[in-house]
Amino acid sequence: MHETQIEKVAVIGAGTMGHGIAQVAAQSDYRVTLTDLDPQALERAQRKIAANLDKGVARGKLSEEHRAKTLANISISSNSSEALSGSGLVIEAVSESLALKQKIFSAAEALVAPTTILASNTSSLSLAAIAESLEHPQRLIGMHFFNPVHIMQLLEIVVHDRVSPACREAALAVARRMGKEPIVVKDSPGFASSRLGVVLGLEAMRMLEQGVADAAAIDTAMELGYKHPMGPLKLTDHVGLDVRLAIAEHLHRELGGDQYAPPQILRDKVARNELGRKTKKGFYDYGDAE
Ligand SMILES: NC(=O)c1ccc[n+]([C@@H]2O[C@H](COP(=O)([O-])OP(=O)(O)OC[C@H]3O[C@@H](n4cnc5c(N)ncnc54)[C@H](O)[C@@H]3O)[C@@H](O)[C@H]2O)c1
Repeated sequence: MHETQIEKVAVIGAGTMGHGIAQVAAQSDYRVTLTDLDPQALERAQRKIAANLDKGVARGKLSEEHRAKTLANISISSNSSEALSGSGLVIEAVSESLALKQKIFSAAEALVAPTTILASNTSSLSLAAIAESLEHPQRLIGMHFFNPVHIMQLLEIVVHDRVSPACREAALAVARRMGKEPIVVKDSPGFASSRLGVVLGLEAMRMLEQGVADAAAIDTAMELGYKHPMGPLKLTDHVGLDVRLAIAEHLHRELGGDQYAPPQILRDKVARNELGRKTKKGFYDYGDAE
């Protein structure tokens, strides 16, 4: 399906990523249906979207009219067949489980037109493996958004061997219409962003372990020396040390290479529940964090 033929987008999973994806799609004037098994997740998502849009208006980034139009473009439903019906693009953002994603996509395939594009927001799973559950694997592609979706510009378009050129072009066009900067990446562990970002974070931890400098100095080296908006240790606190550990273990398993081996300091902190901002302690202390 060509992007111009897509009028309705269905987003499956209304958590951290799903609500943001629904918001940016609705802001880009697609009709959007957001669906989740959990009705409370749907209500939370609606509240979050409204709050994000209110902030946008308060900061002068969005007009009142655009806010109202965006909200009018979004509907929620805990009934997935109702949500998927008539959609030209389905974006899946459920929990990171291969079996779950395969199940969701094979069920979706039975509910949509043969030309509907199916996209997964997986951050680590193989798109080729997800596509194995499909009758038409050529229409499954990775659309890896970043958190918070309404702010972050990058969108990795992840392409496995069987993706059709039309599907790839449509995903790129959707990304641009959403105001994102898409990059095309081969379906391989860690794609482009995590594979590179995790190595930097892990090396910063090894430097901390070896007493090369303290956390603030290591972060400042990258912020001022390399113009990174946030140093690698601060960023790890933001993402969550447990999340980073899981990604490092995954990359180490899949790619080998000492650069992906999780440092002891990371394992120790995770074992002590020092997970970063969410537990008020990681490589820094956050007395005032949520
Ligand atoms: N959190 C991030 O920073 C981030 C960034 C990029 C990509 N991702 C990826 O996005 C996906 C979602 O992550 P998240 O952080 O939004 O997770 P989340 O836990 O916040 O949300 C997942 C949602 O999926 C729903 N769900 C589970 N099974 C379902 C089903 N069968 N049908 C419908 N809904 C179902 C859950 O109720 C939940 O609301 C994962 O694949 C993750 O790897 C996450």
